[in-house]
Amino acid sequence: MFCRNFAQQSLFVSLFVGLLVTLSVGLLVTLSVGLLISGPSGGVGRTSSHNWARCEAVVGNLAGIAPVNSELSPNDMSAPNFAAPNFAALSPSFLPSERFSVAPMVDVTDSVFRRMARVMTKQAMLYTEMIAAEALVHEKYYLIAFKDEELPCCLQLGSADPKKLALATKVAVEHGYSAINLNAGCPSDKVQSGNFGAILMKTPELIAQCYQAMAEAAAQAAPAGTTIPVSVKTRIGVDELDSVDFTFKLMGTIYEAGCRHIIIHARKAWLNGLSPKENRTIPPLDYERVYQIKAAFPDLKVTINGGITTMAQCQEQLTRVDGVMLGRAIIDNPYLLATVDRDLYGGTQGAVLTREQVLERMVELGAQLQSEGKALHFLCRHLLGLFNGCANSRLYRRYLSEHMTQKDVRPEILLKAHQAMVQGTLDV
Ligand SMILES: Cc1cc2nc3c(=O)[nH]c(=O)nc-3n(C[C@H](O)[C@H](O)[C@H](O)COP(=O)(O)O)c2cc1C
Repeated sequence: MFCRNFAQQSLFVSLFVGLLVTLSVGLLVTLSVGLLISGPSGGVGRTSSHNWARCEAVVGNLAGIAPVNSELSPNDMSAPNFAAPNFAALSPSFLPSERFSVAPMVDVTDSVFRRMARVMTKQAMLYTEMIAAEALVHEKYYLIAFKDEELPCCLQLGSADPKKLALATKVAVEHGYSAINLNAGCPSDKVQSGNFGAILMKTPELIAQCYQAMAEAAAQAAPAGTTIPVSVKTRIGVDELDSVDFTFKLMGTIYEAGCRHIIIHARKAWLNGLSPKENRTIPPLDYERVYQIKAAFPDLKVTINGGITTMAQCQEQLTRVDGVMLGRAIIDNPYLLATVDRDLYGGTQGAVLTREQVLERMVELGAQLQSEGKALHFLCRHLLGLFNGCANSRLYRRYLSEHMTQKDVRPEILLKAHQAMVQGTLDV
């Protein structure tokens, strides 16, 4: 009797406990699945559709269009809820020197150019010319050789192959570059035939993959305790892909890959029909589009590029974005660099050099280059615009261009060219 009752009671207790366990497990599974779907931020979660809806809402606000997502207040300008993978944490996005940078320019921003620029600015970030990642894969390391005095310096890489970019990034970090940049905006035929540069804008996901491969490689190759930022340089659109929505999709995809610094040339690229030169003038500049990106992604560092020519414009831009990048203005008037440290970095180290003082330093640099076996015209060609805006500057320019390639030319020809300008005659 006792045994039978005991058996019945045991059965009842087991069934009750079993039921309790089943219910608890079920509840736990339901909760976990729910959490997985909603993501760490809660709410609708980190699915792309939510992120884009939120992003579009911000675009709508800025463009004066009704927000797509009515749950958002019209004043909600916080960052879209993009997923942020670990890469962002691995790399500081932005170095103080990136407040002002000299743009990457093929055939211009070589090592000699950067040594010339460094005489005038200690602070600015100086970019290299674009170097094909492929070249570094083939160990053409002479292409990225530089002198310590050029630092801080950012190496720009071109490729659409994440593996090659990763390898090239590793090599660049090991060489000591301060930062690495991916070219996703250059429209030259050569670059297009390699399927990189501006054409990459047609596949934002591929830019994201390239960025991630580079960020990971930079993190692994950086010396212990240091980090090397990786950024992307791009435009606001390409060909018919030039709507506000497209710009947000492009920047959002790069942001979502973890990138926290994008340099935006504020015009689109036309790949068919316009030369690279025309692509720097014909598509109109749209600074507002860049400001919209900055407003929508506040923790993204944004450097604006395109058509900026004066320090006053730089100062004005820096009230809206994090960095300014100048290209052609520096070719035309390299002396602009002399005021960068004072005007943009609040520099107090030493007075601004006069043009004549810069010229004297260039004579020294010329002698140094010659002692390294380099021809003087590699320096002189960067100095043709040094006196632009001064009376008789055409005489300086003409004297220099006529003499700089002559055999056995000495650095003092720079002083002669200046003399021609001051005396108003080429007969010096
Ligand atoms: C001669 C020259 C070469 C250039 N080469 C590159 C390059 O290698 N990589 C790149 O991203 N952009 C390149 N650019 C574009 C510049 O980096 C910059 O985006 C463009 O000139 C717009 O800026 P700006 O109006 O201040 O000149 C080049 C521009 C010039 C004038």
